[in-house]
Amino acid sequence: MDRAEKIILFCLLLKGVCCRDSSISLPEKIEALSGSCVIINCRFEIKKEHDKDLTERATGVWFKDGTNVDSNLVFNSNTLSQNFLIRGNITGILKDKNCTTVFYDLRSTHSGKYYFRIETDGELNWTYRKSSVSIHVIESPPEPTVQLYVDQKEVQDQEEVLEGSSVSLRCSAETLCSSPPPTLTWSSIPRIPFSESSRLQELILISDLNFTATHRQHRVTFTCTITYQLHDKNKTAQTNITLHVQYAPKISSASSCYRTDVTVCFCEADGNPSPELEWHLSGRPVTNSSNTFISEERLSSTGLRSSITLHQSLTNTSTLQCIGKNTHGTASQLFQWILTPLQFTECQRSTVSLMVILTLTLVLYALTVGLGLYKMRRLSAKLKAQTEAAGTYAFFQLSAPPSEYETLNVKRGDTQ
Ligand SMILES: *[C@@H]1O[C@H](CO)[C@@H](O)[C@H](O)[C@H]1NC(C)=O
Ligand SMILES: *[C@@H]1O[C@H](CO)[C@@H](O)[C@H](O)[C@H]1NC(C)=O
Ligand SMILES: *[C@@H]1O[C@H](CO)[C@@H](O)[C@H](O)[C@H]1NC(C)=O
Ligand SMILES: *[C@@H]1O[C@H](CO)[C@@H](O)[C@H](O)[C@H]1NC(C)=O
Ligand SMILES: *[C@@H]1O[C@H](CO)[C@@H](O)[C@H](O)[C@H]1NC(C)=O
Repeated sequence: MDRAEKIILFCLLLKGVCCRDSSISLPEKIEALSGSCVIINCRFEIKKEHDKDLTERATGVWFKDGTNVDSNLVFNSNTLSQNFLIRGNITGILKDKNCTTVFYDLRSTHSGKYYFRIETDGELNWTYRKSSVSIHVIESPPEPTVQLYVDQKEVQDQEEVLEGSSVSLRCSAETLCSSPPPTLTWSSIPRIPFSESSRLQELILISDLNFTATHRQHRVTFTCTITYQLHDKNKTAQTNITLHVQYAPKISSASSCYRTDVTVCFCEADGNPSPELEWHLSGRPVTNSSNTFISEERLSSTGLRSSITLHQSLTNTSTLQCIGKNTHGTASQLFQWILTPLQFTECQRSTVSLMVILTLTLVLYALTVGLGLYKMRRLSAKLKAQTEAAGTYAFFQLSAPPSEYETLNVKRGDTQ
């Protein structure tokens, strides 16, 4: 320590111990909501020799943007009419060097730098020119801050959470002077049930939304709103957060099969990231072909629907499995062929019709064979007669058919 430093230190010690200076302690800057109030926390010091002047009759004065009594005076606690630029009250006890002040019904024109002055009947009349408080009147309240905590750790710059993790959405806001005090509320789109808990920690209002992440919160926008109830209207500010919950797929219960002449099965899966679907027939992966036709359809950013058309016949031991996969897991659905009573009936019905057809075929066959035999027998009889009376047969052959043929031709000509 050199000599100069020693002197400075000595002076500082001296100042603190024996010679109190006129000083004031004020916040540097305060925000106030237009139409509402502001509280200026204030403490002042006076020279020791003025202690006797500081009585209950002391008054507090505020200047704005300067310290000229004629042009900058905005508030005087001693004036009963209170006919000044600002309505307010010194709530601190001046005698105790507490100059805490409240100003009401602030307007944007009230924004500026404020200087305090203490006035007494005695020699103590002092304006604190070196320190001022800057009041900034804002039209709408500042937006609350929303923080995302996953498993008690803060997550920044992303809104992705894994299903099953414990999520805490914390909304916090600095409270500005208002009566009644502001409130924080949570809401969501789409609306989902939740419970919130609010508390005031010093001048910070906090509201927590704690839950375990499920796919129900996926793409849900949570909004935290701060509300100030002013005389004529409510002023609000909001902050949103949209959660993206990553989850393994889930196969929907809407998945089903039906059988006609072909078998068609549908499988619906949901997951984030969106899943991929695979089909396995009796344990083997099925590829897209003309015999096993697969088509896919996106249902949403997270949903996928796949249908398979099987042209081949399936036995009742065949199994068909739909498998959904994404980076977070696998889900599957098994379809097993169990011949239902309906399918049995259909089977019987077809057997019956087959038998009817077979019977008819047999009957027809019998008739044909029978007729053939009959014809053959007649022919042999004819041949027998022919050999017995050849002349008669020859006459019959030549005479009868031509006349019939002529008649037919004539009829045709008539119709033309
Ligand atoms: C000013 O503040 C004091 C102390 O809190 C209180 O008793 C008084 O009623 C207030 N006056 C006005 C006009 O609000
Ligand atoms: C000053 O007065 C205000 C208003 O009455 C009070 O809230 C505050 O605690 C006081 N400050 C000190 C340091 O006593
Ligand atoms: C919500 O979670 C946060 C952080 O994990 C915790 O500090 C807070 O106490 C919880 N609130 C409730 C009501 O459980
Ligand atoms: C302000 O909000 C409160 C509570 O949310 C409500 O009861 C009141 O009607 C609102 N006032 C106006 C003027 O909208
Ligand atoms: C299967 O093939 C057909 C045409 O061959 C095509 O239209 C269809 O998209 C394919 N399905 C899949 C899942 O690739």
